[in-house]
Order: sequence, then structure tokens, then C-alpha cells
Amino acid sequence: MLKLQNISKTFNKGTASAKQALNNLSLQLNSGDFVSIIGSNGAGKSTVFNAIGGSFLVDSGHIWLDNEDITFLSEHKRARQIGRLFQDPLRGTAPNMTIEENLALVYLRANKHRSLFGITNKERDFFRTKLAELNLGLEDRLKSKVGLLSGGQRQALTLLMATMITPKLLLLDEHTAALDPATADKVLSLTEKIVAAGHITTMMITHNIASALKLGNRTIMMNNGQIILDISGEERAKMTVPQLLALFKEKSQAALDDDRILLV
Ligand SMILES: Nc1ncnc2c1ncn2[C@@H]1O[C@H](COP(=O)(O)OP(=O)(O)OP(=O)(O)O)[C@@H](O)[C@H]1O
Ligand SMILES: [Mg+2]
Repeated sequence: MLKLQNISKTFNKGTASAKQALNNLSLQLNSGDFVSIIGSNGAGKSTVFNAIGGSFLVDSGHIWLDNEDITFLSEHKRARQIGRLFQDPLRGTAPNMTIEENLALVYLRANKHRSLFGITNKERDFFRTKLAELNLGLEDRLKSKVGLLSGGQRQALTLLMATMITPKLLLLDEHTAALDPATADKVLSLTEKIVAAGHITTMMITHNIASALKLGNRTIMMNNGQIILDISGEERAKMTVPQLLALFKEKSQAALDDDRILLV
């Protein structure tokens, strides 16, 4: 499915501020995997997503998605196959456009011959059905500007936009971290529902150690640009939060240093 083979990335190479963010990292995902990723601040978690998404080219190594070598593919071509959500709910939607126009953008991105004008009634019905599944009442607000929505509503809409045309891979970078706890829970359960319904291969960076063990089928820990732990199956099912933190300490020779860490 997704295969990262020995990828490395150093920022500001050859300068005093050179930083190796990815160090010969390899990872293989199976189709339908839902992987949670945890690690200290600066471990390289977001950098892995940026490498997969094509924000920069890796210094060495290869990236395959569904048997296609995407190592040198442009970011916008990768974006057609990879859905991404970020911590900031303001990213991913256009505030001055209406909900229906934002949803129509999904088609526009997939098909450059389409225009934003002339959203058909059939499309509108489809948008309404999809929005109703979010259970936030957005199905009655197709003509509202997205800038008027709350952070949680906007993040749910971004999630819908990222998955309306089923992506090969969904990358969630702390996508609930900026939301209040109740809203974060809601967006998280929507995520589980949408991922399960579309059998979407998903990677999710989180600071919530308990949900990193609970959600999905696999948990990965990163440190210093490397994967130091990769657990699934029975080993993961039996793992408790304190055990996972102890394992992190053992493997990295340091405590998990994360300024937003949540243990429950
Ligand atoms: N574009 C960039 N230019 C220079 N340095 C960068 C860039 N992106 C990331 N880095 C550096 O690479 C390292 C890894 O950063 P990254 O953002 O991947 O960490 P992270 O694991 O996502 O951390 P956090 O939990 O704080 O989000 C850090 O030292 C960071 O400062
Ligand atoms: Mg990050």
C-alpha cells in the first residue's frame, strides 16, 4: 500500500542550523491499516507526512503508494490521492466560499475541466446527504459561508472534503488538538466512522496516548527521525498507557517529551 524505504531528510543542510529530521526511516502499511503515531516534539512526525505528501523531496530513499513510485511526484499530483488534515481548522477550507462551493471544490480539484458554477441539484442532494452524516446540522446551511462555522464544524467539513472522493491514504496531523475536548471527541468518532466506511488507509498523529492505543489497529512511536516502536495485534491490545510510556523511555533513553501530551 504505502511503502517508505530508507527515507532521510536534513533541513538547512550544510549550515549551522542543519537538522536531520528523518533518519533512514522505513515503513510499510497494509491496505486498510489505521496507524496512530506518537512521539516527542520534533521527533519528525509531521515531517514524515510532509515527505509523503510531497511538501519537499526526500534527500534519499523511496516512497511508493499502491505500487506507484511517487518519490518525485509533485505535491499537487499526490494531493489527488492523499487526503490531509492539519491541527488548524482554518486550513483546508475556503472561508469566503459557501459550504456547497467548498464541497464542489473537491470535484474541481479532481477534474480540472469542471467549474465552480452550476452546482447541480443532484450534487446538492449528495452534499446534503454527506453533511447529514456528520450530524452537525450543516445539511441545512449549504449557502452559509464556511468562515462562519465553528472550529469543530470546519474540521468536520474538511474531513468530509478530504474523503468525499475516497483517497488512497488519509494523513491526520493532530487534527483534533485545537478543539475543545467534547468537540475533539466528536470529530474523532466521525473520523473512525468515515475511515471504516471507506476502508481508508489512515495515519494519525496524536498527543493522546490512550487514543493512540485504542483507535485503529497499529501504533507507531517516533524519536529522532526514526520509528522506535511499531506494535499491532495482541501485543498492542494488551498494552497499557504506562507500559507504552515505559517502552518509549527504554527505546529512546529519554522520557516522552511532548508539551501537549494527554494520558487519558
Ligand atoms: N521546513 C523546515 N525547515 C527547517 N526545519 C524543519 C522544517 N520542518 C521541520 N523541521 C525540523 O525538523 C524536526 C522535526 O520536526 P517535525 O515538525 O516533524 O516534528 P513533530 O514530530 O511533528 O513535532 P511536534 O509534536 O512538535 O509537532 C524539528 O527539529 C523541526 O524544527
Ligand atoms: Mg508535528
